[in-house]
Amino acid sequence: MEKNKTFYITTPIFYPNDNMHIGHCYTTVASDVMTRYKKARGFDTLFLTGTDEHGQKIEKTAKEHGKAPLDYVNKIVEDTKSLWQSLDVQYDIFSRTTDKDHIKAVQQIFKKLHEKGDIYKDKYDGLYCTPCESFITETKAKETKNTCPDCGRAIENIKEDVYFFNLPKYLEHLKNHIEQNPHFISPESRKNEMLNLLKETGPLCVSRTTFTWGVPVEFDHGHVVYVWIDALSNYITKLGFNLEAEQGERYKNYWPANVHMVGKDIVRFHTIIWPAILMALGEPLPEKIFGHGFLKIKGEKISKSKGNSVEPNFLIDRYGKDSVRYFLMREMNLGQDADFTTPAFLNRINHDLANDLGNLVSRSLSMAVQYFPTSIASEGQLLNIEDIEKAMNAIGTNEDLNPTQAVKKTIAETITEVEKAMDNLMFSTALETIWTLIRRTNKYIDETTPWILAKDETKKEELSCVLYTLFEALRSISILIAPFLPNTAEYIKTHINSNKNNWDEAKEFGLLPKDLKVTKGDILFPRIDLKKEETELEKLFGESKNG
Ligand code: MSP
Repeated sequence: MEKNKTFYITTPIFYPNDNMHIGHCYTTVASDVMTRYKKARGFDTLFLTGTDEHGQKIEKTAKEHGKAPLDYVNKIVEDTKSLWQSLDVQYDIFSRTTDKDHIKAVQQIFKKLHEKGDIYKDKYDGLYCTPCESFITETKAKETKNTCPDCGRAIENIKEDVYFFNLPKYLEHLKNHIEQNPHFISPESRKNEMLNLLKETGPLCVSRTTFTWGVPVEFDHGHVVYVWIDALSNYITKLGFNLEAEQGERYKNYWPANVHMVGKDIVRFHTIIWPAILMALGEPLPEKIFGHGFLKIKGEKISKSKGNSVEPNFLIDRYGKDSVRYFLMREMNLGQDADFTTPAFLNRINHDLANDLGNLVSRSLSMAVQYFPTSIASEGQLLNIEDIEKAMNAIGTNEDLNPTQAVKKTIAETITEVEKAMDNLMFSTALETIWTLIRRTNKYIDETTPWILAKDETKKEELSCVLYTLFEALRSISILIAPFLPNTAEYIKTHINSNKNNWDEAKEFGLLPKDLKVTKGDILFPRIDLKKEETELEKLFGESKNG
């Protein structure tokens, strides 16, 4: 059997110092959508997500809760896994930096780089932000008047004997790689930012002695591996990367990763530090690092302390997982920030999901059941070959077509456009394009007026052709939306009697049974009364605040 092409995608591994918020859901859902899309296109996919559990911050938070670090993070890991399940996120690997195989492989990596001379011991005497666990340069501190550039809190002077990674050794090579591989950092704007940052990158501190919650450096007790080597290596250690025995099967099959999906805050670590570590190890670099924007709440950064975070489980329970997935993927444009507001969210549900998609599905099913109680029998020629040929020949032109030909043409054009968007991780554009087809199909109903055809016995054949075309369009739509809205796609498939999931089957016409029987179902997306809902929400949040 021919081996399928592989596709390996990762989310960042999240800090389990607190429960995941709606911003974390963005990265994870986006990676899930991409995995499902690639799977439908025949790829052998692997999707990794997980938690980054070591470090001073977690140690401190656990202590504040009166717990040992591992006990503290175990509960958050459990809640995180359950959140991903509620959002229908189907990952293959949940990577925890406290996993034994990971710890062992990180120790091997540290040792190898030390033996190679790329990691060396030296004195650190400089500025540091404890809450962020980050070292701050003199120049930066001057600009920020001795506060942390990330969190704004006061920074301190520390002196410590630590290990450094000789990052500058790899910068020239890395610069060439970035310049010669235009898709390595995406979107484009982040690439230039990173090329500028390269110029001011010095040696990287990779061990600490002031806390113990980390991977111990085997050959120098008292040192633990400091954050980024531990965290970034998870992308290979969890595939069975091994420096002392044969590489694991997954490493052999899936590395290098096709996409590291990350927020713009950590693009730097993934495009400078991570490739340099891989170069030092002599391993291939990932194909693409995609830095997406941030989801904000009413224009502000999501933060528990500001009390503005939206509880994802609340949204999922109240409005359904597909609505949440849709909003996240539709609202954020390539690389830019997006804003969550309740009216924007509810309007998306009402306009796009209830009016456009929900309506199309429910009126198509109702008409079919009413006009053809047994089945949409193929008395005539359901697959009008001439129509199909004319539609295909008209792709990319403005030729006048009849409504049936026009719908077929839109299906073909939509798929090409969606593929282009998806291959560039432009989820919002892909959805916008799919919705053009959904609206065109709604218009098809208005143009062909099945309710008028149904009154005339002599138009029975035409009516069956119109409905069959309608359900073929819905069958294609079910395949196109499946990566984004898996439950809705399943609902449509079940009711129109389709068992087609493969992407290429969306491009074909006439795959539904020629003796098509469809069934009516519950309303897909009930319309929300905005005024009533606002009052309800105020009541709820009022109560929860008081309670
Ligand atoms: N542990 C590191 C990552 C190590 S990867 C080897 C980390 N963790 S984090 O929990 O602070 O954040 C991880 C990622 O969550 C961010 O880079 C980003 O991808 C995502 N997001 C966090 N807040 C977000 C928003 N408000 N909006 C969109 N994504 C957000 O950094």
